[in-house]
Amino acid sequence: MVKTVKYLIKNESQLKSITKKIASELEDGCLLLLEGDLGAGKTTFVRYLGEGLKAKQPITSPTFTLIQNYDAKIPIVHIDLYRIEKEIDIYFLDITEILDKEDHLVCIEWAERLGKYIPKDYMLITLSYPKIIENNESERELEVGVIGTKYQSVFQKIKTKLKVK
Ligand SMILES: Nc1ncnc2c1ncn2[C@@H]1O[C@H](COP(=O)(O)OP(=O)(O)O)[C@@H](O)[C@H]1O
Ligand SMILES: [Mg+2]
Repeated sequence: MVKTVKYLIKNESQLKSITKKIASELEDGCLLLLEGDLGAGKTTFVRYLGEGLKAKQPITSPTFTLIQNYDAKIPIVHIDLYRIEKEIDIYFLDITEILDKEDHLVCIEWAERLGKYIPKDYMLITLSYPKIIENNESERELEVGVIGTKYQSVFQKIKTKLKVK
């Protein structure tokens, strides 16, 4: 069963504070699949997760490598599948091994490109531009969802945490 919760984000600093709260619930590891148009804020979201988890380097868009590892409170693996054209290319990334990593935070941008490799348990982060933007280019909609059983309790904790200002 898919469960989701949506937040309207007014600007980047609000995304930052929400993302840091989410990060604090991911310290035991998690698999996050990220979806959303180009420029919607997927990399920005992962960057603030990195700040929240005290990553030793700032997380940036992995331009030359599709996969980037960061040392943090828990190891972070950041993957961007934007330049993946065929499903077979995903096979060569050893993706199944990465998807099975425990005690890591694995974040995958353009996760819809995983195709048949989409696992059964993950959290889905969707960033989008609200349909009606009121003169504010920084508004976003952040949707947090959970698929499968493994991350249900993390999802509940995130929901509770984000209710508290
Ligand atoms: N509320 C917001 N949330 C996220 N990014 C925002 C927001 N407002 C403005 N931005 C800007 O939008 C851009 C998002 O880019 P990026 O995170 O690379 O997107 P993506 O990885 O989805 O292609 C950044 O330049 C960021 O500074
Ligand atoms: Mg990106």
